[in-house]
Amino acid sequence: MNAFAIDSLEARIGAQTAEARRLSGQIVCGGGLRKALTTAQFDIENPATEEIIGSAPRCGIEDVNSAVDAASLAFRSWSATPARERGALLMRAADHLDGFREDIARLSSLETGNALPTQSRNEAGTMVDILRYFGGLAGEINGQTYPPDPGRLLYTRREALGVVGAIIPWNAPLMQLASKIAPALAAGNTVVLKPAEQAPLAVLRVFELLQAVLPPGVANAITGLGEEAGRLLCQHPAVRKISFTGSSAVGAMIMHYAADKIVPVTAELGGKNPNIVLADANIDRAARGILQGLRLQRQGQSCSAGTRIYIHDAIYDAVIERVLAGITSFRVGNPLDEATQVGCIVSRKQFDRVERYIEMARQTPGARILCGGQRPEGLDKGYYYSTTLIEGVPASSPVCRDEIFGPVATVSRFTDFETVLQEANDTPYGLAATIFTENLPAAFDFVSRIDAGFVQVNQFAVAEANIEYGGTKMSGMGRELSLASMVQHFTWSKTVIVNTSAA
Ligand code: NAI
Ligand code: MG
Repeated sequence: MNAFAIDSLEARIGAQTAEARRLSGQIVCGGGLRKALTTAQFDIENPATEEIIGSAPRCGIEDVNSAVDAASLAFRSWSATPARERGALLMRAADHLDGFREDIARLSSLETGNALPTQSRNEAGTMVDILRYFGGLAGEINGQTYPPDPGRLLYTRREALGVVGAIIPWNAPLMQLASKIAPALAAGNTVVLKPAEQAPLAVLRVFELLQAVLPPGVANAITGLGEEAGRLLCQHPAVRKISFTGSSAVGAMIMHYAADKIVPVTAELGGKNPNIVLADANIDRAARGILQGLRLQRQGQSCSAGTRIYIHDAIYDAVIERVLAGITSFRVGNPLDEATQVGCIVSRKQFDRVERYIEMARQTPGARILCGGQRPEGLDKGYYYSTTLIEGVPASSPVCRDEIFGPVATVSRFTDFETVLQEANDTPYGLAATIFTENLPAAFDFVSRIDAGFVQVNQFAVAEANIEYGGTKMSGMGRELSLASMVQHFTWSKTVIVNTSAA
């Protein structure tokens, strides 16, 4: 049935564990994979087995300095390289990565717990696609000329910022690394990226592969703890831009670091996204959209997941019945197994966080767990957790307000559109929002009044190259994945006035 299915699960895990050992203790700095200067390390776990598969350097100031120095040195010639030449190199880098896509995806599944067939394989494809897309856009980074003005020529130049510090989380590291480095490099910047503690290996592998095409020092990756390597990278005086994806709490800290040296920040942060089904919605389509919104290929660990579900009373039971049937049809299992559709949560910490919120729901009067609320049967080791829907949770409960970041969503019945809209907006977040309805005026009314940066009608899809992405309120600042966001966030504008008069 599947061309990938020829090797056994054990062989896959073995091959990727050997790769994890090879990458242990390494960073990518100044043109190649090399041992970090620090000897301090932290462990990396396979969340599906709870086994330690490798370790990564706990970089401190020496390693941060050496990576930023390498990026600073490379910036001189990279920023001076003609834009389309840089773009061509990025496209070649994308082609090169394309040839290793399957291995990269498998390594990512080993350390994240994301299922290979439904998540990592697609994500590796998206990573390649994003690099190609921005490679092609490198020649579109234009300034402006002002209207003709006798005796003066007025124009602006878009210039590269310098060294970009990029910090990413663990939930979709391949997609996230591409969203950061592709526009940064296309615009002439160089990069030092720090992946999350939980999932640094596939990122290191990608950066190692990039060295075959990109000049030394253009793309560097260091590992380490957030409050050490992450903070030091942000605070380094030569880092002229910070691009961050992660929690809103850390996003706020990053803005403080940036404020001290007046550098711009792009921040893609959390979400607690409403998914609303009106009475006139197509029931099958709405149920499908809710299922897709749960983002189960990442065990719900997605900032855009539709985790606050509101269904009109008139069709509530019919929609819920279909959603529950859908959830039970998903095959949960080892992330590297070809039959798996849903893998496991990334870490003990996130697993415990999910259990804490479920316990809170159990203690809430009126709340009822419709499915899940426990480990899946037969999966006693590893951070597997059954997809959990909870109804009857008051809007004021942390279960309904906090970004849980796991396979958990609340469902509520409503009858009045105005009330549900108000509730949908009553959150510190403003990332994504979805509505299902056959009523066009209602859909557009929702679009104009919902506080969210990524709004969908009658479908649930995820970000891709050329579809601008980002949030409002505590979900972040700035946008990614578009030409406009590249120009805005990865270049600065220089105004030039030339006196062209003869005298
Ligand atoms: P986090 O926000 O602490 O980590 C994300 C990245 O930031 C990691 O690379 C980490 O090393 C780095 N970091 C942490 N502290 C830092 C600091 N002081 N300076 C610089 N970099 C720093 O997220 P964490 O702890 O892994 O997850 C906790 C919660 O955050 C999750 O339960 C979820 O709600 C939320 N989260 C949201 C994400 C999103 O995409 N919306 C992604 C990851 C986490
Ligand atoms: Mg944290």
